[in-house]
Amino acid sequence: MNKLPRITFAGTGFVGLVTAAIFADRGFETIALDVNKERVHSVNQGRAFFFEPGLQPLLKRVVLEDKKLSASIKIVEKILATDITFICVGTPSRKDGSCDLKYVKQSAKQIGQALAQKEDYHLVVVKSTIIPGTTRGVIKETIELESRKTAGEDFGLCMAPEFLREGKSIFDTLYPDRIIIGQFDEPSGTKLNEVFNELYEGDKDQFNSQWEEIYHKEIVMPTTLRLSLEEAECVKYANNSFLATKISFINEFANICERIPGVDINKVAQGIGLDHRINSQFLRAGAGFGGSCFPKDVRAIIQFAKNKGYSPKILQSTIATNKHQAKRMVELAEEKIGGLEGKRVAILGLSFKPGTNDMRHAPSIKIINYLLEKKATVIAFDPQAVAEAKKVKEIGENITYATTIKECLKGADVCLLVTEWQEFKELQPEDFKQMKTPTLIDGRRVYDYHDFLAQGIDYVGVGLGLKEE
Ligand code: NAD
Ligand code: UGA
Repeated sequence: MNKLPRITFAGTGFVGLVTAAIFADRGFETIALDVNKERVHSVNQGRAFFFEPGLQPLLKRVVLEDKKLSASIKIVEKILATDITFICVGTPSRKDGSCDLKYVKQSAKQIGQALAQKEDYHLVVVKSTIIPGTTRGVIKETIELESRKTAGEDFGLCMAPEFLREGKSIFDTLYPDRIIIGQFDEPSGTKLNEVFNELYEGDKDQFNSQWEEIYHKEIVMPTTLRLSLEEAECVKYANNSFLATKISFINEFANICERIPGVDINKVAQGIGLDHRINSQFLRAGAGFGGSCFPKDVRAIIQFAKNKGYSPKILQSTIATNKHQAKRMVELAEEKIGGLEGKRVAILGLSFKPGTNDMRHAPSIKIINYLLEKKATVIAFDPQAVAEAKKVKEIGENITYATTIKECLKGADVCLLVTEWQEFKELQPEDFKQMKTPTLIDGRRVYDYHDFLAQGIDYVGVGLGLKEE
């Protein structure tokens, strides 16, 4: 590639902003587009508007120093000025769980309006998670209708699903396990493959090499799989569904292990994880999965399948088991201290996982709801997510927020550890002794239970079948 293509990212959310910033860091001229003026303003100031490790210094560099990334609300105008557009807009759930495509349709319309005025070939790449058939049936159709141009002739079209994890998004973008390229036609796929080649193995002088030093890992072109548009769309749903199912599976087994004295789910997980056909990832039993995608995507593919006349039983169980797991945290507390009415319950961790302030579908929301239904008094601490938690209508003003771990634990009847932040992992049995009754429900299995029990903490771990004394 002689000159790097200019790229617009439609949607400056988690995926759009992180991807645009990494492309910018690797020398591409990138423009992040959004309908939200505050987000655009924030990016142009070099400020991240959500918490993500490493993103703030990266933005400062690519926006303010290298000037490779800018943001804009002039969507059509900026698409027109670039060669490639990645669609990264949100695909939220409708009430019935199905995938809401309104932002995707709007984005396709804007791309079509830009392409109507453009002579040169433009490549459109969908990164948003969309139900099978959307790229061809909705995006292609909308762009063609608006632009009066033809896919495969005047513009290229690919579907390249995104697999990054929140909290590890920079690493995941630089070192993905693989790249899936769903292609409308061969030239579209080849063009996108070239762009990724440039991103990972292009002119090294252009690159910021600090990542290789930080992660002690060379950046190379990942394995690439070229598929049809629909296959690529399916890979994304199958991927998230499989991982979510793996978590529900281990949680199901955790519930069995709790009933067998002397059995610890962590040891069982370790045992099965050594089988390379299973592997050890995503076998951490606990309070269940949350986040912006697993719950949304599993429900969306269930709804999609139902609309096609098939009711997917495993996936429905994945959701049901996950829901039960939040309840199980509360049951474990009740089994230990009896009725919860009027009891002071300390919650450690609110975000759906450590390393993010994201509260979307966080297990803490369901757990706190159950506790409030039982008329418990809830006090919670989270190192990053309190401001976001306050915005969640079900819990917002209904609980108290502590400003320190100490304040949260002081005088509590029971503590539920819900999110495994590093600062919680470092707590010692001594720290729990300021509770009224030092009872700990370890919902993420972060502590050495021998140590905690030996030091007088009434310790209960998810998936831990303790031997009778
Ligand atoms: P998000 O909600 O954080 O951001 C989407 C952005 O798109 C918002 O800022 C919104 O204002 C903007 N937008 C809406 N309509 C627009 C338009 N017409 N033009 C330009 N901008 C517009 O979403 P996200 O978390 O970045 O997710 C985006 C997609 O990627 C979703 O389909 C999601 O399922 C998928 N995904 C997300 C993750 C993740 O970790 N968050 C990982 C993999 C895949
Ligand atoms: C997940 C996937 O891992 C990404 O590949 C995908 O791109 C993304 O969804 C998406 O489509 O948005 P993310 O939601 O950021 O990423 O977080 P994960 O690290 O996967 O964790 C999801 C939830 O599962 C968390 O609540 C976490 O606590 C829980 N989890 C994870 C477990 O309970 N046990 C485990 O062993 C692993």
